Amino acid sequence: AATLQGRDFLTIAEFTEEELKAFLQTAVALKTMQKQGVPHHFLQGQTLGMIFEKASTRTRVAFEVGMYHLGGSALYLSSKDIQIGRGETIADTAKVLSRMVDGIMIRTFGHEIVEELAANADVPVINGLTTTHHPTQVIADLLTIYEHKGKLEGLKACFIGDGYNNMAHSLMEGAAAVGMDMIVASPKGYEPDAEILDAAKARGSKNGCTIAFTNSPQEAAEGCDIVITDTWLSMGDEAEADKRLHDFQGFQVDDALVGLAKPDHIFMHCLPAHRGEEVTPSVIDGAHSVVFDEAENRLHAHKAILKCLMEKNA
Ligand code: CP
Ligand code: NVA
Repeated sequence: AATLQGRDFLTIAEFTEEELKAFLQTAVALKTMQKQGVPHHFLQGQTLGMIFEKASTRTRVAFEVGMYHLGGSALYLSSKDIQIGRGETIADTAKVLSRMVDGIMIRTFGHEIVEELAANADVPVINGLTTTHHPTQVIADLLTIYEHKGKLEGLKACFIGDGYNNMAHSLMEGAAAVGMDMIVASPKGYEPDAEILDAAKARGSKNGCTIAFTNSPQEAAEGCDIVITDTWLSMGDEAEADKRLHDFQGFQVDDALVGLAKPDHIFMHCLPAHRGEEVTPSVIDGAHSVVFDEAENRLHAHKAILKCLMEKNA
């Protein structure tokens, strides 16, 4: 979609159904080109600045390798090393980087930090995870579901765990956009953000699907095509470790829980995983798990995002 050129990528919700389809189709095309050894230097000579205020394995490697495959290069900028860590403002950082790079990716805490960066940058800004959104992961997840199920519309997914979580939020936004039912199950006190949930419900009803919330993991898992979880302790939650491990008892994705899903269900987790906490080894290392396809697809999905936003004269 021509409308994507020069845009930011902050949340799933800001894109139309057609634009999300364009990311997925581009990802499929780029994945095929890479597997066939066809060069795809669509971003020849371009650079991506990547600001990380939190740890990362997949996101960093996918964007860095992705820029290389596309004929450009990426800079890893740890907030500990750049002047942000000594108090330089986000706005000034955005303006300075815009004079030197062609795109900026940031992984940080509050979503408003990414919004401020985007408001002050002249180049596309990509959200590589905030406390409330993880949109690049969801492009990879939709691609993975499509590859395993041959469609997105009409499927039923559940997310079991922390509802006030970047993955739960971005997955609800993604499911609503593609017409996939999604139900989130969390303990009391860990409900999804009400605004995000309500907006996803509204978009879902336009697209013929249901976005819902429950306190019962069993109710959520019943009859699902896709069972998803994520850590109970996201980056930034470390101080609440003891309380959270206690509060999430009963929400572990184990054999009994996935036994309620469809016999051909797939299990997904954005990783990193904590075996014995949110998921048992039998499930994440079992026959239904597609977590490493999902991880690989970060590379293809991120290349698609980069191409759609940054390619000149596309
Ligand atoms: N899933 C994900 O974003 O992984 P990293 O934290 O390793 O980037
Ligand atoms: N919810 C997790 C995702 C990690 C990729 C976190 O924010 O730490």
